[in-house]
Amino acid sequence: MPAIVLVGAQWGDEGKGKATDLLGTAVDYVVKFNGGNNAGHTVVIPSDDGPQKYALHLLPSGILTPGVTPVIGNGVVIDLGVLFEELDGLVERGVDVSQLVVSANAHVIASYNRTVDRVVERFLGSRKIGTTGRGIGPTYADKMNRIGIRVQDLFDEKILRQKVEGALDQKNHLLVKVYNRRAIDVDEVVDDLLRHAERLRPMVADTSLLLDRALDDGRTVLFEGGQATLLDVDHGTYPFVTSSNATSGGACTGAGIAPNRVDRVIAIAKAYVTRVGEGPFPTELPDGDADGELLRSAGHEFGTTTGRPRRCGWYDAVLSRYAARINGVTDFVLTKLDVLSGWEQIPVCVGYEVHGERLAEMPMTQTEFHHARPVYERLPGWQEDLSGARSFADLPPNAQAYVRALEEMSGAPISAIGVGPGRDQIVQLRPLI
Ligand code: GDP
Ligand code: IMO
Ligand code: MG
Repeated sequence: MPAIVLVGAQWGDEGKGKATDLLGTAVDYVVKFNGGNNAGHTVVIPSDDGPQKYALHLLPSGILTPGVTPVIGNGVVIDLGVLFEELDGLVERGVDVSQLVVSANAHVIASYNRTVDRVVERFLGSRKIGTTGRGIGPTYADKMNRIGIRVQDLFDEKILRQKVEGALDQKNHLLVKVYNRRAIDVDEVVDDLLRHAERLRPMVADTSLLLDRALDDGRTVLFEGGQATLLDVDHGTYPFVTSSNATSGGACTGAGIAPNRVDRVIAIAKAYVTRVGEGPFPTELPDGDADGELLRSAGHEFGTTTGRPRRCGWYDAVLSRYAARINGVTDFVLTKLDVLSGWEQIPVCVGYEVHGERLAEMPMTQTEFHHARPVYERLPGWQEDLSGARSFADLPPNAQAYVRALEEMSGAPISAIGVGPGRDQIVQLRPLI
């Protein structure tokens, strides 16, 4: 099983980092193929000094496993300052990062893209997306507009300057005339980017070729998606999405591997649902709702990247079925089942009601999705603490039935269940590799 794609099934923060870490030493390469430092993955690793918590944003979570080669693919947008800060932080904690490889075709987040991200959000007012403010959207927009800066451009100062000039030509008009900001200086941007060039140079490679050869040699490659299915720019709840393809197809374009290389697609789904930022969320428990508050506090649902409280709601099987279809999911990993201990009954969304009509699938239009009201089935809850469970038989009967019911509704088998943040807090039902 050499090529495995791992994606989020909902709106992010499902526990992809932990799942990647779990596959650990069975993997030779871990590739980030989309997004940038908008992602936030918390990984908890046991050590002699107690559990060690790592928060990763730009680097793939697999970097924490000794012997794994981490790769940043062409589909990623890189904030160079963040890259080196994150690398330095890991080195300080004794992690070997020397194997990191970065695609020459990946795009770079220039300082003006962060400025534009924040200015545009403020300008949108009540129509804002609630972005992470990291410059992700504007950098992908530049890529599509063909005025982006790529990693390879850092090694040719003349070309770099021309490209920055070209990009700022348009942006300065916009910043000054529309957004009432000061114009950005070309030299400042070029100097800021060049600051990192020499340190970056030895890491840069043709990562598509590297991964192709690795697969030919029978190596195991894990493609680790940032964000999630419903945040995908094409298949998510547009416009309340990120600006990359976070679904499994994005692994092919964002890493330069062919679709017929992919053997397995693992989707990570939380046993309930959370969302950060704006946008529709049918099973959301409104602000102040006691169950919602309980999910947030029991699940520690505060963003790894921005610290924002995550919006919380019940499991939505319509979303999971959609994720199963769009990604070609072969296995689900169901995370945070432990958080659901203590409820008498647990509602699960099995369909939507839209304008009086019952739907079992995602509605065709965003307007319908905005009006979708969840149809709930209430499953019996359990009171026991699940954090020590290591086999399916260790779970109380109602928790087992909850998992089986979700599996039935969600369109692919559940192959592992998370029962706590720790690396060992997992119930494995079948091997993932
Ligand atoms: P990612 O963005 O998908 O990697 O997820 P995040 O790291 O942003 O958020 C998931 C959070 O849940 C992290 O704090 C993890 O440590 C934690 N976590 C992951 N799996 C489990 C689980 O099964 N149970 C509990 N209680 N926490 C988990
Ligand atoms: P991980 O990988 C949750 C959300 C933002 C915002 C929207 C657009 O940790 O699951 P952007 O800055 O990407 O332009 O913001 O997408 N968002 C995430 N939400 N988890 C993430 O990543 C996210 N990355 C972006 O909150 O609503
Ligand atoms: Mg996250």
